[in-house]
Amino acid sequence: MFLLAILFTHCQSPKPMNTESIFTQYAKPDRKDHHSYSNPSQAITSHLNLDIKLDFEKKILTGVAHYDILNNQASEIIFDTRAMTIEKVILDDSDNTTFFIGANDELLGQPLTVAIKNTTTKVSIYYNTSPDAPALQWLDPQQTADKKHPFLFSQGQAILTRSWIPCQDSPGIRITYDAKVQVPKDLLPVMSAQNPFKKNETGVYNFTMKQAIPPYLIAIAVGDLSFGSIGEQCGIYAEPSVLESAVYEFADTEKMLHAAEKLYGPYLWERYDIIVLPPSFPFGGMENPRLTFATPTIIAGDRSLTSLVAHELAHSWSGNLVTNATWNDFWLNEGFTVYFERRIMEALYGADYANMLAMLGYQDLEADVKDIGHSHADTHLKLKLKGRDADDGMTDIAYEKGAYFLMSLEAKIGREKFDLFIKDYFSKHRFQTLTTDEFIVYLNENLIKKHHLDTDIEAWIHGPGIPDDCPTIVSDKFSTIDKIIAEDIKNGRLEIDNSPAWTTHEWLHFIRHLPKDLTPKTMKELDEINGFATSGNAEILAAWYELSIENGHYINIKSEIKSFLTRVGRRKFLTPLYKALKERGDLAFAKEIYADARANYHAVSVQTMDKLLEM
Ligand code: BES
Ligand code: ZN
Repeated sequence: MFLLAILFTHCQSPKPMNTESIFTQYAKPDRKDHHSYSNPSQAITSHLNLDIKLDFEKKILTGVAHYDILNNQASEIIFDTRAMTIEKVILDDSDNTTFFIGANDELLGQPLTVAIKNTTTKVSIYYNTSPDAPALQWLDPQQTADKKHPFLFSQGQAILTRSWIPCQDSPGIRITYDAKVQVPKDLLPVMSAQNPFKKNETGVYNFTMKQAIPPYLIAIAVGDLSFGSIGEQCGIYAEPSVLESAVYEFADTEKMLHAAEKLYGPYLWERYDIIVLPPSFPFGGMENPRLTFATPTIIAGDRSLTSLVAHELAHSWSGNLVTNATWNDFWLNEGFTVYFERRIMEALYGADYANMLAMLGYQDLEADVKDIGHSHADTHLKLKLKGRDADDGMTDIAYEKGAYFLMSLEAKIGREKFDLFIKDYFSKHRFQTLTTDEFIVYLNENLIKKHHLDTDIEAWIHGPGIPDDCPTIVSDKFSTIDKIIAEDIKNGRLEIDNSPAWTTHEWLHFIRHLPKDLTPKTMKELDEINGFATSGNAEILAAWYELSIENGHYINIKSEIKSFLTRVGRRKFLTPLYKALKERGDLAFAKEIYADARANYHAVSVQTMDKLLEM
């Protein structure tokens, strides 16, 4: 009875699942998570009480993870760990526990196996992290905006949480948590939880996350943070010098939240705040519940890159509420989120705007399919990542092919019916996890059979490339640009200053569609008139630098490129630029930049660039 009560309140699922069916669910082969050592069919963590202290001098975190567990009469419970020291493990109230730390696997880290009794309900793990725990980036003051205080942030997805908390690090396992965090008194910690708004005298802070979440969503950031409100439910955390511009940039966030609720049902996480991190953050955004982590490179001054906020917000439904059961099912998180993101943007800014985003997304998809290979299995929505890096799934297949699959269903069935389907899907599976196969069963029952739809979902899910029934999106704005470029090419010159009123997305489309073989002279002229190389918009910078490297113009703007790659650690920008330099045959310049920049990058970016540049 006690266990049932825990499950019901923690999972907040519409109907309580009995403990036995929870365990048997994990025994299904489709649910096997090849990226975790944990044994959830025998013993599952259900609540974490974390008690940690941060040492910025040593760059380590010390503490205890106290777990409540659901015990299927097991003799052991297995946790994931990586690059950490386990001091001791305590069960319930006893103190002589046997535990065993297995060999290190390059991809997965080390299993921590704890011997338990069939009556054990509590396990406490005392541990220290290592200074190079890959989830954590400890920044020196000069790596922050204000250059006065150190900073720390975590990145858990996909399988990095295990490097700062010993945990059952599988997206198929959900836990609630609370945390006591001790930091230097001049810093403020925030988590993917209920957060403080300002510093206190003691340097000790308490957090609670009462909704059950997978461990990849447990997150922490610590720095000289101030808070600015942007609505009743929304606000921004940032370093003092960044706060004002961030508050301006993200002013529409609460409108996005309301638009999202109107589309697909209530927001179940209470507050939605955003923290703007230092520029070394390896992603654009990360959907940590209640507190999106964001790169400062989306602060363009004109609110033109805020679809990223819509994206992370949309994850509050697709991903955080309904979660991919394994990383093979990653498209269930990202494909739904991209689709939902564009629906939010359409609700706020109109179909023209959303269509530009969708077209840029399609261009990314085509490029990725070409890169990966049209018939390669990595272009299937359902992935096979067993024995591989979970990160290998982070391509535009999951994002854009996933989104276009949903758009194809919408196109066939009509928006009204499709919206009802999605809304129901979120509500029926809230606080649960799904495999692709389970989604297919649900889709067949609730959409395809119900509405007698004639569609080949296999081609999308288990087939390669872009299926024939992929919707075509048109944007009048982009067509105009295509015409201008085509005409100018015909006339043998580029009308370079003809459209000063273009928006960021139009400029991006323009840069992407310029002929690849423009002469350095034309590139130079384009640059002088439009100031691409020194644009305040990071997306434009990255697109322009990539083209410049491809056609040789980069030798005129080497210092700008170097400064960008040294300042910014967002992998999405780094990868194409280093790759282009390599392909251009200027590995020397790539390596010269990387030698200076590497220390500023988070482990996620370092891992990718090391491989790319074969360091
Ligand atoms: N959840 C992802 C980030 C992620 C995915 C981190 C996989 C680690 C492993 C996040 O929601 C995301 O997709 N971010 C994108 C932005 C988005 C607008 C496409 C990014 O960081 O570029
Ligand atoms: Zn995402």
